[in-house]
Amino acid sequence: MDKVIIVTGSSRGIGLAIAEGLAAAGATIVVSSTKEEKSKEVATRLAAEYGVKTLGVGVDVSDEASVKAMVDATMAAFGRVDVLVNNAGITRDNLLLRMSAEDWQSVITTNLNSVFYCSKAVLRPMLKQRAGRIITISSVVGQMGNPGQANYAASKAGAIAFTKSLAKEYGPKGILANVVAPGFIETDMIESLPEQYLNTIIESVPLRRLGQVSDIANLVSFLASDQSQYMTGQVLTIDGGLLM
Ligand SMILES: NC(=O)c1ccc[n+]([C@@H]2O[C@H](COP(=O)([O-])OP(=O)(O)OC[C@H]3O[C@@H](n4cnc5c(N)ncnc54)[C@H](OP(=O)(O)O)[C@@H]3O)[C@@H](O)[C@H]2O)c1
Repeated sequence: MDKVIIVTGSSRGIGLAIAEGLAAAGATIVVSSTKEEKSKEVATRLAAEYGVKTLGVGVDVSDEASVKAMVDATMAAFGRVDVLVNNAGITRDNLLLRMSAEDWQSVITTNLNSVFYCSKAVLRPMLKQRAGRIITISSVVGQMGNPGQANYAASKAGAIAFTKSLAKEYGPKGILANVVAPGFIETDMIESLPEQYLNTIIESVPLRRLGQVSDIANLVSFLASDQSQYMTGQVLTIDGGLLM
């Protein structure tokens, strides 16, 4: 795949698997996370393992200036950006009555403002290229809600509405925007959830297991590829059948 691809939050978890899958397909990858050293380490490993060009950057996706610097660094290194994967995200779970304004703000800022900042920053180069893909990782929780996750669900639902607007606004200019909505996937993010709760989730998943990061990475590789040229504004739920 001869494309320059930025994957936010690709130091670990789903983002790392996405970066790895795209590198395996031959793409040039920009690895980014809040920890510059870790991003560089992953970028160096992917370059060595898959023989592709990479760049590792430190970024805070909740900060517009930091996001702009990441896109500027990408343009300086590779001269273009073909695909953005908005993957970085956090949870700060609590029941609504106990949820602090800080926990509300940090989740909305990191999960939703980031999608606005990153998408806006890549739009200019994509418009010049008259082509581009923006793939945003939302969640089934953004479609169905979840107790203890009002902030997270709102941020993920916002990302869906944002993407549909983007798809309508920039489709005529050759820019495609889609959402991937994973169910419960085995990463650090769900590690703190009580085992009993996870077992209840698994019981309600028709495929009776949690998702693997590779399940999500495979779908993102398809959305970044030339095999999905007539798809935009879609929400692709990938959750073992949890939501149907
Ligand atoms: N795991 C699930 O069950 C699940 C389900 C549905 C949707 N999702 C979504 O999938 C995405 C990835 O989740 P995950 O489970 O892989 O999470 P994770 O293992 O916790 O990894 C999160 C990644 O995001 C980065 N990140 C966090 N805050 C950031 C910031 N302010 N600026 C830049 N990077 C930041 C982290 O980098 P650092 O190492 O620097 O913190 C890390 O690379 C998230 O959007 C999440 O909401 C996950």
